[in-house]
Amino acid sequence: MKHTDIIDIFGKEELIGTRVTVCGWVRTSRDSKNMAFIELNDGTTLKHLQIVIDKSVLTDISDYMKLGTSLKVSGTVVKSAVAADSVEINAEEIEVLGECPADYPLQKKRHTLEYLRTIPHLRVRTNTFNAVFRVRSVVSAAIHEFFQNRHFVYVHTPLITASDCEGAGEMFKVTTIGFSNNYKTEEEYNADDFFGRRAALSVSGQLEGEVAAMAFGKIYTFGPSFRAEKSNTPRHVAEFWHVEPEVAFAELPDIIEIAEDMIKYIINTVLEKCSEELKFFDAHFEKGLIEKLKNVAENDFAVMTYTEAIDRLLKADVKFQYPVEWGCDLMTEHEKYISEVICKKPVFLTDYPKEIKSFYMKQNPDGKTVAATDLLVPGVGEIIGCSEREADLDKLLSAMKSRNMTLEDYEHYIALRRFGSVPHSGFGLGLERIIMYVTGVQNIRDVILYPRTVGNIY
Ligand code: 4AD
Repeated sequence: MKHTDIIDIFGKEELIGTRVTVCGWVRTSRDSKNMAFIELNDGTTLKHLQIVIDKSVLTDISDYMKLGTSLKVSGTVVKSAVAADSVEINAEEIEVLGECPADYPLQKKRHTLEYLRTIPHLRVRTNTFNAVFRVRSVVSAAIHEFFQNRHFVYVHTPLITASDCEGAGEMFKVTTIGFSNNYKTEEEYNADDFFGRRAALSVSGQLEGEVAAMAFGKIYTFGPSFRAEKSNTPRHVAEFWHVEPEVAFAELPDIIEIAEDMIKYIINTVLEKCSEELKFFDAHFEKGLIEKLKNVAENDFAVMTYTEAIDRLLKADVKFQYPVEWGCDLMTEHEKYISEVICKKPVFLTDYPKEIKSFYMKQNPDGKTVAATDLLVPGVGEIIGCSEREADLDKLLSAMKSRNMTLEDYEHYIALRRFGSVPHSGFGLGLERIIMYVTGVQNIRDVILYPRTVGNIY
């Protein structure tokens, strides 16, 4: 269907006076005695294009005016009568591509995000989702650019796996066998299943990412990860998009530098390419968002050890719901206090107690902590989980044994420590979490097309 994208109509002086064809959905419409006005949006920009109808030229207009109707409009581009720097179309021909009845759920009023979650097939047509998904697309491209420009190889790690990377047991089982009483033991059941052993959806591409990094030096993965954790919070979904670089010959400070550079690259790209969207989020979701992003891009992130953070939390003049003591897992309230009150900016919290972190993290000489860091940001909390990996075979084996892990499931991973092991590090960034941070949208369900959460699959 030959037509011009609405984004290409705006800001093009040379189009004024020419005839164009545009397509889109009616966002609003207004009828007066001699004229009618339609705001048309085709999704290529947040801005709506005004279609001006002279009722002496087009007489029967009722079908064009209903919200949600899709139209093909041909007409002349003219300067806007109200906004000097904008344009509109004087319609000459209009074709209805798809009618839309009066019970179309997206009527003029502002709907709540909670209501919009019940109509995921339509909420994408609202300004909020138009802006969120353009930012999401720009951020995804920026992530690829960042790594591609720095000699990282993009690898695709398997989504079906036999090992549990995070060891938290929060995996979705993959099976082709339905309900059955035929098996006496789980082993028997697994043996009869598709792969002949227990399989699950991967929580992280890291283990295979390490395999690739030991060949290509610097790699990244960018794909979905799955977590069957039942945490019904504004920050967790069961299926999220995961960016995981893995870098050979890199220790913890090296990977922290890469993570900070990547976040700043993402922010600068969004500031450059999504100015309209950011203005929208600044006005409707987080006052001062643009200023915040500029500040983050221009200043160093904080770095603080877990031990110092615990010290500061213990001294804080605040009554936390969950008790604080060295060795505890930090709760959202603690993370928020550290990034929002103590540091007031993104902070890499480093050197966590080994008991609360994963088996693969490099053990520090103190025997108590690991070379791991989480990046905590004000408003969202953790957006990156990062660590130097344990490259020493004996130490890795002892960490796995102390967690009662089945070593046979990790044969290849362990073997990497025998065949030319090197210091290496990596991290995982949750795409939805960085989208929340750069847009100010507070619920993860509103930055993903179809959120999968416990008890909820549309
Ligand atoms: O801290 P996590 O669990 O780290 C890993 O998976 C490592 N294997 C990563 C690595 O070193 N290659 O998860 C990393 C990030 C979190 O910081 C968070 O941003 C995101 O993944 N994430 C989730 N995002 C949305 N919903 C969930 N349920 C998430 N779980 C983790």
